[in-house]
Amino acid sequence: MRYAFELNNVKKHYGKVKALDGVTLKAEEGKIFGMLGPNGAGKSTIVKVLSTLIEPTSGTAKVAGIDTVKNPTGVRNTIGLAGQFAAVDDFLTGKENIQMVGQLYGLKKKIAKARAEEILERLSLTDAANRQVKTYSGGMRRRLDLGASLVGKPKILFLDEPTTGLDPRTRKELWDIIRELAKGGTSILLTTQYLDEADELADKIAVIDYGKLIAEGTSAQLKKRLGGDMVEFELKNKNDFQAALEAVDRFCNENRQADEDELIIKIPVKNSADDLLTVTKMIDEAGIKPSNISLHKPTLDDVFLALTGKKTKPESEKKSKKRSKR
Ligand SMILES: Nc1ncnc2c1ncn2[C@@H]1O[C@H](COP(=O)(O)OP(=O)(O)O)[C@@H](O)[C@H]1O
Ligand SMILES: [Mg+2]
Repeated sequence: MRYAFELNNVKKHYGKVKALDGVTLKAEEGKIFGMLGPNGAGKSTIVKVLSTLIEPTSGTAKVAGIDTVKNPTGVRNTIGLAGQFAAVDDFLTGKENIQMVGQLYGLKKKIAKARAEEILERLSLTDAANRQVKTYSGGMRRRLDLGASLVGKPKILFLDEPTTGLDPRTRKELWDIIRELAKGGTSILLTTQYLDEADELADKIAVIDYGKLIAEGTSAQLKKRLGGDMVEFELKNKNDFQAALEAVDRFCNENRQADEDELIIKIPVKNSADDLLTVTKMIDEAGIKPSNISLHKPTLDDVFLALTGKKTKPESEKKSKKRSKR
């Protein structure tokens, strides 16, 4: 069987930094492969290795069966790449940007122009086609950048955090476009920091941290390891913490998370509403009045903690992380 792309024990070291520390994975053709991990996990490094921008320190990478080091040109001819930061020229119009890429691909001017129009139409950018890119919103830039990666009609598309920093509505628009591309038969590697995005789009998800693959599976399989939704209690009083833990642990202590500094306890639940009532009652019967109770979908942090027993960020960054709640 041929894979859209595969890595075999790929390492990429920068001095002492192990950006990739032996990653092995295979992505089926015609599917969306999600690569989920926090900042610094090694996602962009994987994208760079696969798109021949860097060579691995050791191990091999193949795209459409072609070795990225032995035949980089062969690889480049099959892929499209939209990087983490939109790489479009501010002073050109949207159409000029795509047309320029087309001409770089060796298309005749007229054909490049037609191709640009077709792509802009597909990405709902026709109205803005003749405006300078500097007037575009963040979402429009990302779409244009994605458009540029489509010029060569790639069979395989690498999208590196295509929605990071976008507002929810714009993210959803991009999701629709990505889904459409996959439906049309394009194999896609999508990196993301958001569990909900991988959940929404990816047929298969690889979770990566510190340059290592820590889990792989469908979204349902990953969530099953977590148990479902999370109930979160925030306490008012530090003195209540131990008693609250004991009450909660009578309900369930598997994958329970407790943060004594922030006075937060989280537990995974299977029957969300029923379990929320049950465990809240247990807390209440222990005479504890939480300052907040919530039920939410697992975050990337929750998945990480369950998979690794570690937070995605070192303790010292916890305060700032809490402020910028993901
Ligand atoms: N050119 C480089 N030189 C030194 N360290 C690098 C370089 N590129 C990436 N790294 C380091 O490798 C790790 C993985 O980076 P990256 O792949 O960009 O992570 P991600 O895309 O998941 O945020 C990080 O610790 C980063 O600082
Ligand atoms: Mg990155």
